[in-house]
Amino acid sequence: MADNRPIGVFDSGLGGLTVLKELEKVLPNESFVYFGDTGRVPYGSRSNDTIISYARQDENFLLSKDVKYIVAACGTVSAVAAHTANELPVNFMGVVENSVKAAVAATKNKKIGVIGTSATINNGAHKTKILEIMPEAQVTTADCPLFVPLVEEGFSDKDDIVVLEVAKRYLAPMVEAGVDTLILGCTHYPILLDAIKKVMGNGVTLINMGNSTALAVKEELTRLNMLNSSNRWGNKEFYVSDLTSSFAKISKILLGENIENVNLVDISKYEGSFNRN
Ligand code: DGL
Repeated sequence: MADNRPIGVFDSGLGGLTVLKELEKVLPNESFVYFGDTGRVPYGSRSNDTIISYARQDENFLLSKDVKYIVAACGTVSAVAAHTANELPVNFMGVVENSVKAAVAATKNKKIGVIGTSATINNGAHKTKILEIMPEAQVTTADCPLFVPLVEEGFSDKDDIVVLEVAKRYLAPMVEAGVDTLILGCTHYPILLDAIKKVMGNGVTLINMGNSTALAVKEELTRLNMLNSSNRWGNKEFYVSDLTSSFAKISKILLGENIENVNLVDISKYEGSFNRN
């Protein structure tokens, strides 16, 4: 039995397009519905209660699109609100679990760093999960709140003095701790990969949460016999909660291509209990 319905992907905004990009690479025969909560971004500076209630609405919206699977592309939602998935009638994957597994597999000196939004780092989900698998690991964490606006303003060049100064300051505790593996725990950070590499040095493994999550989604869909078997694939639908003037610019930075059709959603309408199929 195959399942030809699309995979739903959501994020606090357009950052999740970096995860969508990885999903498309690993699962080229699937169709996707993407929801970006552009009207309420950022989530990373909000309280846990707010993030949880937003995540429920985002998941509810995707269910209304008859998706077979939901991926929370947002680092913040995955850290703070993954338990909302327990109530879902479809399978779910966040971006924390598999980036942690990839980091534990990669580290040689058992010193692992994690960077993310303030809500993600305050929540501590990565650290808890790393220590569950590798209790002797030393985990260093840091929030990097300026990274998201830098990326969205188009500042990502590794030779840009502003980018480099901010990266140096945020990553100083990682360098000092001697981490050999660093989890990029936020959607926007892959865009800063070269700058982060320049500060951390080539010897440090950088974990792309989109890639590790995409591989795990593929494995699960394969195991459950839920891959798309129809010849209708590669379809992408985009929905946002606010169509801002910067949409085209930011989506191009994060996805690497222009988005032709985007639909507006009143996300507050998706309050309440989950729609069961
Ligand atoms: N998408 C968010 C994350 O990955 C970053 C932007 C925000 O703070 O909402 O944590």
